[in-house]
Amino acid sequence: MNADQGPRLGETVMRRLAALARFSETPDNLTRRYLTAAHKGAAAQVRAWMEEAGMTAGLDAVGNVVGRYESDPPGAPALLLGSHIDTVADAGPFDGNLGVVAAIACVGELAARGCRLPFAIEVLAFGDEEGSRFPATLTGSSAVAGRFDPACLESRDEAGTSLGEALPAFGGDPAGAAAVGRARADVHAYVELHIEQGPVLEAEGLPVGIVTAISGANRFAIGLAGTAGHAGTVPMALRRDALAGAAEMIAAAEEIGGRGDGLVATVGRIEALPGSVNVVPGEARFTLDIRAPEDAVRRRAVSDILARFRDIAARRGLALTVEQTHEAAAAACTPWIMTQLDAAVAKQGVRPLRLPSGAGHDAMSFSGFCPMGMLFQRCTGGVSHNPAETITLEDTEIATRVLLDFIEGFRPGE
Ligand code: GLV
Ligand code: MN
Ligand code: MN
Repeated sequence: MNADQGPRLGETVMRRLAALARFSETPDNLTRRYLTAAHKGAAAQVRAWMEEAGMTAGLDAVGNVVGRYESDPPGAPALLLGSHIDTVADAGPFDGNLGVVAAIACVGELAARGCRLPFAIEVLAFGDEEGSRFPATLTGSSAVAGRFDPACLESRDEAGTSLGEALPAFGGDPAGAAAVGRARADVHAYVELHIEQGPVLEAEGLPVGIVTAISGANRFAIGLAGTAGHAGTVPMALRRDALAGAAEMIAAAEEIGGRGDGLVATVGRIEALPGSVNVVPGEARFTLDIRAPEDAVRRRAVSDILARFRDIAARRGLALTVEQTHEAAAAACTPWIMTQLDAAVAKQGVRPLRLPSGAGHDAMSFSGFCPMGMLFQRCTGGVSHNPAETITLEDTEIATRVLLDFIEGFRPGE
């Protein structure tokens, strides 16, 4: 930490993160899903901070806030920095938001010193990383990496509104989504600061670490149809209970997900219909998320879990539908970016530790499009996707200074 100035950058970042957390769909906690009024408010605030930091800023066609700090001479390819500003339901304030707010603080610092670099810096506040509203994920970053899937415009939220319908009200433009994709020649690399969301840095006693790779993931929407009936009159042996079938499937996913090799399987949401105390559930729907650092391990688990689901459905006389809503291969971070991040971490007097990421991140969208890397900041207890998520001011100061040193020392492609 800079002894004469105290944790000045970290204080700005923490104050802004607290301010951003007030943009929520719900008054008593933080829920900010893609293209909601809360997201719109947060996007406007982020844009204002970008402009204050000396960037030209605006909203792109898929609802990302994009700020550009021009190079000297102008028009050079950009180093892209950023993360997401959407959240899960009942979220903590740091997941995603940290990477956006810290990147803006770094640009603000460069602007305050009158410092222009031979490359442009663009800060991206992606609108949908979490997939918490529509059954689509990484929509914003995929679009910037030129991988926008027009099929996602048809995906619908719980109220039946499609992504394509929600975009214009937000200020986006479904017809312009494909054009959000960048030309490869205009981009040097994408680098993201994010909270670790796991316990490794805390166990190592380190404020930051350098990410080596991001686990691959599959997500599914599973549907089961049986027969609704009277809870008092239909004998157990004659039932086609969709929710009981779902329960057996969840237990199977948990068992297979526990095989090891970093494999994890999660059912995060379930719904039973018609949803009455005295009715045998005729329909059930649930989500399934499967991840692993190695693609072969993940693919084998997906195939085994779905095979078990088919067996369970057949034995219980249930109609099974399986819709894949997301698939991402494991993404390795670019070696020369890791090396430059190592150097920036060491410059802050911190031992550079490399670690993999089990969580998904916008950086995955850039894998194969441009060089990419990530810096993790320790979060208390490794807790995330939880309102108890916390980080310290001291760690935030170090992480923001690492990001700033990385930017200032950035040498494309070395
Ligand atoms: C994003 O937070 C994820 O699901 O990993
Ligand atoms: Mn995140
Ligand atoms: Mn998240």
